[in-house]
Amino acid sequence: MSTLAVNVDHIATLREARKVNYPEPVTAAGLAEIGGADGVVVHLRGDRRHIQERDVEILRKTVKTKLILEMANRKETVDFALKIKPELITLVPERDEEISTEGGLDVIKYEKKTAETIHIFKNANIPVSIFIDPNTKQIECAKNIDADAIEIHTGKFCEETNEKKEKEFKKIIDAAKFAKELSLKVNAGHGLCYTTVKKFKGFSNLIDEFSIGHSIISRAVFVGIKQAVKDMVEIIQNL
Ligand code: PXP
Repeated sequence: MSTLAVNVDHIATLREARKVNYPEPVTAAGLAEIGGADGVVVHLRGDRRHIQERDVEILRKTVKTKLILEMANRKETVDFALKIKPELITLVPERDEEISTEGGLDVIKYEKKTAETIHIFKNANIPVSIFIDPNTKQIECAKNIDADAIEIHTGKFCEETNEKKEKEFKKIIDAAKFAKELSLKVNAGHGLCYTTVKKFKGFSNLIDEFSIGHSIISRAVFVGIKQAVKDMVEIIQNL
């Protein structure tokens, strides 16, 4: 059965829009856990547009499930992550101009640098996942440089319509099967909502964990975080 990790970056986005001290992502994380989340995800971006170091430091002390830190492969963030010791690091590409993470990490292009960072984290007993497009060559490369997991980028599938959507979904499923054959843990995320996640019905054996933020926090505006997470957990448990 697949599990659910909830990304609380968007609570921090709301806070940073006014540069005030509310709403509190740590409270959101606690409520997400009460609602049934199996993990809490935060992305400490280089531009600090939402999550701040202080959030990650407090979450490290308060999260009862597991803390997943998304980050770009840059030295200052690697050093910070080594102090935090999250249960999982997800390496993502970052561009300052992007609204949100736009695509998977090009592991082939950045193989050496990514391998070095994975090695550093492995020496500190921190498992590493790589956010990756559903592409077998990229997945093979991730395996070769000793990644523990991949997170398949579901953004394109979520954005597309009609036959293109079907095509993108097939890519995800084929990629997940391929990664499983290589004994990689397979997560999936980006852009998933209460509708698109249902497409994974019958494939829960292929996806270890879904990483979902925006749609859950958006629903939470109306029904509260606990209920919004509960609704997503129920769908995922029935896939
Ligand atoms: N996975 C990764 C690697 C991401 O960068 C994000 C966005 O922060 C997510 C999952 C969650 O995406 P969304 O907020 O669209 O659910």
